[in-house]
Amino acid sequence: MAKNKNNQAIWGTRIKKSASSLFQKVGNSIDIDKRLYKEDIKGSIAHVEMLFKQKIISFKIKNKIIYGLTKIEKEISKKKFEFSKKYEDIHMNIEKRLFQIIGEEAGYIHTARSRNDQVITDFKIWIRSSTKEINIAIDKVIKSTLKLAEKNIDTIMPGFTHLKNAQAISFAHYLMAYVEMFNRDKKRFTNNLESLDENPLGVAALTGTSFNIDRNYTSKKLGFKRPTNNSIDTVSDRDFVLDFLYSVSVCSMHISRIAEELIIWSSDGFNLIHLSDKVVTGSSIMPQKKNPDLLEYLRGKSGSSYGNLFSMLTILKGLPLSYFKDLQDDKEIVFKSNDTLINCLKIFDEILKNTSANKKKMLELASSGYITATDLADYLVRNHSMSFRKAYQKTAAIVNLAEKKKKKLDELSIEELKKIEPKLTNDVLKVFDLKNSVNSKKSYGGTSFDNIKKMIIKYKKH
Ligand code: ARG
Repeated sequence: MAKNKNNQAIWGTRIKKSASSLFQKVGNSIDIDKRLYKEDIKGSIAHVEMLFKQKIISFKIKNKIIYGLTKIEKEISKKKFEFSKKYEDIHMNIEKRLFQIIGEEAGYIHTARSRNDQVITDFKIWIRSSTKEINIAIDKVIKSTLKLAEKNIDTIMPGFTHLKNAQAISFAHYLMAYVEMFNRDKKRFTNNLESLDENPLGVAALTGTSFNIDRNYTSKKLGFKRPTNNSIDTVSDRDFVLDFLYSVSVCSMHISRIAEELIIWSSDGFNLIHLSDKVVTGSSIMPQKKNPDLLEYLRGKSGSSYGNLFSMLTILKGLPLSYFKDLQDDKEIVFKSNDTLINCLKIFDEILKNTSANKKKMLELASSGYITATDLADYLVRNHSMSFRKAYQKTAAIVNLAEKKKKKLDELSIEELKKIEPKLTNDVLKVFDLKNSVNSKKSYGGTSFDNIKKMIIKYKKH
């Protein structure tokens, strides 16, 4: 329970009995929210500067409070601060210490504010900087993906639909799909900055305040664009928390999809990529094993991000306005999601740096499964003025013939091909060349080498 310098609860004049020890044990959040100490002190300094500017507190008191807060910040960063569960949370721990350092004048700090606006001010500032940190981590992943893509522009592999060979692609084109995904993640996080730009400080408990405060001043001081509009909404709102958790979930979902894909490709059945020893682990019983455990770790972690998003959605469901203790859990949820994502991005970056293409195997797999059938159909449309549907049927008949003869498409002789379409000439054989097939997809966004090179350059400049 929060106490003042006389070791009395701050609300002790009103509440005569101490909280039950059980509640004291579960009701505190200091172990979690002490992480907000810098933001809390920053917010308090802006608040008292504003109180002084508005002639609500004196110059002397403002300076004393700022002196005390600065000292507390140093104590905490040097790990010389004693956090106490008795004082519930970071706000009360700091206020209590301020009383010890500067005496009774510490009591002026809480004029025209409440913990309700204080906590979300801290939290918004924290999420804002963490959002930027996540974007930097995503940028590193994008960079490593681009590097791997650059090395594999002409690495041919099968593109899959339904995990069956579909059409030939460049491995780099596949990797560039990941770049698109991560780039969208960055945009999603950046878009969140808009709602994080509204300053909650000054709405106090839920009504605003009768003091003549200047919320534009604190907004500016704390790097917000403007103050929030409605005091009740402000203390109740955790949409910005949901936005963050959702963005984390989508990003970790992307990581899990990629992780799954790399797991499949590194499996003995596919053997399309090689993971260096740095990112695999062994088995305690099977000496030959090199397992993609780290990728499995990444795939699994999306589960806890979704869990966190759903925890927060569930806490908010049906919760009346305005502040309730239920909301206190928001910080633990966000910190967990944040830390996990940052960790996953670092791991994924390391994996990318330790991944190489098994080019031979990729080409081999791309040569099976009649992967150039669509190219043949396109060829018939272009060179023999057929509709695409007609060409599709002719090609299907040619694939059937190849299957019957147990041959690949490029192993059929021109005579065999002519049995299905007499107009065909030797010229058709070039459509079975995989490089030619990949390079022919020159439409914007397609897998041609030139397109990929241009895209890599574009993203490198980003
Ligand atoms: N530690 C609290 C939280 O994070 C701060 C707000 C407390 N407000 C209150 N009215 N009890 O939610």
